[in-house]
Amino acid sequence: MQGKRMRRLILAAMMLSPAVYAQTPIVIKFSHVVAADTPKGMAAERFKQLAEKATRGKVRVDIYPDSKLYKDREELEALQLGAVQMLAPSLAKFGPLGIKEFEAFDIPFLFPDKQSLHAVTEGRTGRSLLRKLEPKGIIGLAYWDNGFKVISANRQIKTPADLRGLKFRIQASKVLDAQTRALGASPQVTNFAEVYQALKTGAADATENPPSNLLTQRMFEVQKHITVTNHGYLGYAVIVNKKFWESLPADIRFELEAAMKAATRYANDIAQQENDQALDTLKAMPGLQVYYPGKSERAEWQRALMPVQREMELRVGSDLLRDINRETLKAREDKGVK
Ligand code: LMR
Repeated sequence: MQGKRMRRLILAAMMLSPAVYAQTPIVIKFSHVVAADTPKGMAAERFKQLAEKATRGKVRVDIYPDSKLYKDREELEALQLGAVQMLAPSLAKFGPLGIKEFEAFDIPFLFPDKQSLHAVTEGRTGRSLLRKLEPKGIIGLAYWDNGFKVISANRQIKTPADLRGLKFRIQASKVLDAQTRALGASPQVTNFAEVYQALKTGAADATENPPSNLLTQRMFEVQKHITVTNHGYLGYAVIVNKKFWESLPADIRFELEAAMKAATRYANDIAQQENDQALDTLKAMPGLQVYYPGKSERAEWQRALMPVQREMELRVGSDLLRDINRETLKAREDKGVK
């Protein structure tokens, strides 16, 4: 009896001893909703490798992909509560948190290409948007690309008129809601984890995503047509729980920031290629048609969707839109594009 109690006391003391404490790694739970073999999934893995190596085992990053731990809305609540420490939600998912400005990234045809998009995310505007997360107990560390979106359905979609009356799955963004209505379709907000089932059961008829998400969620099993509209962008903000991040020893935080920088370069290097490859794989699938709208059809998409920018000006902020337009224009001028 006496011996047992003594052993328990020794064990308890060991658990509190600085030597043992020092060996206990700091665990970063990184939850996300997409497959591991997507640009976001691969960049999360790269961050884990770099962070663990740089901190020599003092930090362990546990990744939970594919909504295994939390779905869209839940993961943001879990981060705020400290149940997970790191996420990379799409920029479309910050509206329900009260930060509507991020929905500017959903505005159709606002970003003509990745260079102008990066001029915004990597510049003053991108940084000031991330700072808006802080009062919510969140720190924004980086922007990661996915890509421009295609549209899928079970009928061929050449122009917006072909979407009329369809139930269209979107993320919980008011800009995407306005976009869908401008196309004459009916918006259905659905968690990413439930999109496949929604398309299968007919709760949704059509949807949008970059090709890599379409492929890795096997949406091609329940959609017969894809249209390469590239009408809007989908990217991510990598975010951490503020209290957790600020409680880290300064040297560890420094290493993690460096690992995040390198993982961000990697994410933005591979995203386009991953999506191009995914689209090629989809094109080779029997029973799946991939359609590229012609010039006049592209003009129809633009005509239908350009008014969304004006319509959403109040929601995302006219100053922000003006800044984005100025920065994207400058990026294009620097590139020599008229
Ligand atoms: C979606 O919900 O459609 C995507 O944003 C999922 C993701 O994180 O790429």
